[in-house]
Amino acid sequence: MGRIRSGLRSLLRRKDPDPSRDAVTRIPVHLAVIMDGNGRWAKQRSLPRKAGHRAGAENLRRLVDACARAGVRYLTVFAFSTENWNRSADEVASLMDLFVEFFERFDPELADAGVRVRFCGDLDALPQRILEVIRTSERTSRGRNGMQLVVAFNYGSRRELAHAAREIARDVAEGRLRPDEVDEGTLSGHLYLPDVPDPDLLIRPSGEYRLSNFLLWQAAYSELWFSDVLWPDFSERDLQEAFASYSKRNRRFGGAES
Ligand code: FPP
Repeated sequence: MGRIRSGLRSLLRRKDPDPSRDAVTRIPVHLAVIMDGNGRWAKQRSLPRKAGHRAGAENLRRLVDACARAGVRYLTVFAFSTENWNRSADEVASLMDLFVEFFERFDPELADAGVRVRFCGDLDALPQRILEVIRTSERTSRGRNGMQLVVAFNYGSRRELAHAAREIARDVAEGRLRPDEVDEGTLSGHLYLPDVPDPDLLIRPSGEYRLSNFLLWQAAYSELWFSDVLWPDFSERDLQEAFASYSKRNRRFGGAES
C-alpha cells in the first residue's frame, strides 16, 4: 500500500509540466519599451513604412491598456529618437502627423483609464504644432492618478546626459553647487523626468539586442527582455511572457546572492 502511495505521489509530481506554474507574476513598477520593427512589418506586407508606424501606434494603444490593467505604474515608450531625423523627410513627416493624430484620437481612452501622459526628450527643438500637443496632453492629464505613460520623443540618452551635465555646470558656475558635491544623485536629479523611478524591465522586440541610446543611465540595473516579434505584432501574450520571465529574475543590484 505504502509503495502504491509513493508511486502515485511521484507520478503526480512528474505530471506537473511547468514548475513555475504556480509562481506569482510580479508586475514591474516601471516598464520601458523600444517599439522596434515597424518598417520590417510593413515591408513583409509590401506596404509603405508609414503603414508600419500606424500599425505600431495601434499596438501602443493595446499595450497602454494591457499595462494599465496589469498594474504597471510607469510605461515609457521610445517613439522618436534624436537620430530618427536622419530618415527620409516623408517618413519623419508621417511620424509627426501620427503623433498629433494619436493624442487627439486616443485621449478619451487615456482619460477613461486614468492615464497621465508625460514626455521626455529635447522637446524645445520640436516643431510648434508638436509642442502644442505635448503641452495640451500634459496639462489635461495632470490630475489623473492611474498609470503614467511617458513618451520619449526626440529623445536620446546621450543628449539627456549632456543636458544634465550642462545644468550642473551652470549650478556650479553660479555658485549654487560645489564641484565636490556632484554625485550620482545630482545627475539623476537633472534628468528630463527626475521623479520617474528607473525602469525595472526593458523590452525590445524585433530581434535586435541593443539599447540604441535609450535610458542608458536609468537602465543600469533594469532587467532586459528581447523578442523576435515585430512591434506591431507584439501582443498581450508576449507581454505576459516578459512579465513571467521578469518574475523569475533574481535582482541583486550589484549585491551578493542572499
Ligand atoms: C522603430 O521601428 C520605430 C520608430 C522609429 C517609431 C516608433 C513609433 C511608433 C510605434 C508610432 C507610435 C507612436 C506615437 C506616439 C506616434 P523601425 O521603423 O526602425 O523598424 P525597422 O527596424 O523594422 O525598420
